[in-house]
Amino acid sequence: MSSRTVIRGGLVITASDEIHADVLIEDGRIAALAASGTPAAEAFTAGRVIDATGKYVIPGGVDAHTHMELPFGGTFASDTFETGTRAAAWGGTTTIVDFAVQSVGRTLREGLDAWHAKAEGNCAIDYGFHMIVSDVNQETLKEMDLLVEEGVTSFKQFMAYPGVFYSDDGQILRAMQRSAENGGLIMMHAENGIAIDVLVEQALARGETDPRYHGEVRKALLEAEATHRAIRLAQVAGAPLYVVHVSATEAVAELARARDEGLNVFGETCPQYLFLSTDNLAEPGFEGAKYVCSTPLRPKEHQAALWKGLRTNDLQVVSTDHCPFCFTGQKELGRGDFSKIPNGLPGVENRMDLLHQAVVDGHISRRRWIEIACATPARMFGLYPQKGTITPGADADVVVYDPHPEQVMSAATHHMNVDYSAYEGRRTTGRVETVLSRGEVVIDQREYTGRAGHGVFTPRSTCQYLN
Ligand code: URP
Ligand code: ZN
Ligand code: ZN
Ligand code: ZN
Repeated sequence: MSSRTVIRGGLVITASDEIHADVLIEDGRIAALAASGTPAAEAFTAGRVIDATGKYVIPGGVDAHTHMELPFGGTFASDTFETGTRAAAWGGTTTIVDFAVQSVGRTLREGLDAWHAKAEGNCAIDYGFHMIVSDVNQETLKEMDLLVEEGVTSFKQFMAYPGVFYSDDGQILRAMQRSAENGGLIMMHAENGIAIDVLVEQALARGETDPRYHGEVRKALLEAEATHRAIRLAQVAGAPLYVVHVSATEAVAELARARDEGLNVFGETCPQYLFLSTDNLAEPGFEGAKYVCSTPLRPKEHQAALWKGLRTNDLQVVSTDHCPFCFTGQKELGRGDFSKIPNGLPGVENRMDLLHQAVVDGHISRRRWIEIACATPARMFGLYPQKGTITPGADADVVVYDPHPEQVMSAATHHMNVDYSAYEGRRTTGRVETVLSRGEVVIDQREYTGRAGHGVFTPRSTCQYLN
């Protein structure tokens, strides 16, 4: 017996089209689309009919940058794979790509196995993994080839965090050379961490311990310098490059220049850089700790460059870098020393709504919303068209989105396992109504109907976005 669902009467929006169409789902996949009201659409029969009249029908969001349960600064990100993927579903995201971590002195395999163990059987939606490479050596380089073959096709390196995740330029070059051969994509945390650590030490010595100094020592110029260096190392290696969590105008300029030269260089930004600023970091009474992440929030003036980059395609993807730490007991570890505040912000539940707000505000078009939040992350990380679009044969990861109601973001109503919202009190227009993951309804008219273990590990092909 096949299970069929039809979603009727909505405006189907993909990165390339907007059409009033009915969507037929069979056995977890998109089976067919037909213009609403036509005989072809009326011939769609199904056990379950979802009325999407007056609403958008969009691909489930693909969040290519999350950190469930990440160990950081002596604690762990507060969302587990179970709570974090459930919150993602609430927010209209049906795929995450999280980061498995290689610890220094351990193999990639050990790290990947550990992350599989955390995720398997616990996720509400599908997931993949990138691999954080903290220890580049001959063995690791060989292991990269094996990971690419098993669908872990991207590797994050850090130019920041000396002594933890940090790679020097030689290690970066070697990993890039390897990825040029095996098809892997290097994702770079581009900040000059060696220089930043000097500035941290000097700031603390001057008694500058408040959260806002986190933003001051992690200078935009040091993001731009590292971005430039990563680009040129990738160019020398003949490898593509994806720069994560871009926040500074000067870093966008480096990406734009490299792309004008025709290089396969890509950039991601995150909602926090588009909607928040150093004003939040400067909130009194240690409240600023809620906004400590790296790269840091920037002065408001940087936001225009990020929006522009998203319109000109110098930035291609918006991911959340979801890495929540509770204010109580976790962010508080850095009272009296901003460098001890665990880095990261919650947001996996908020991304689709905030980017819809960007549509309402006129920053981007509806199709660009879907492109930067669904289609391009899927193509960038080898998941397309299984994920990121609505087309026959694709996984039936579909969101019915009502563009009209106003909602207020708040920790009191969100589903992420964290005791504050970075967007507390913010009014947005539009709301996720119903979410399907491989044809199963996981959010049913604002009620959670999913289950831990429905989501499965999704192996990925290599990057599908190269010039
Ligand atoms: O502050 C952040 N971004 N925390 C997560 C780790 C990272 O660098 O992406
Ligand atoms: Zn990072
Ligand atoms: Zn991250
Ligand atoms: Zn409405």
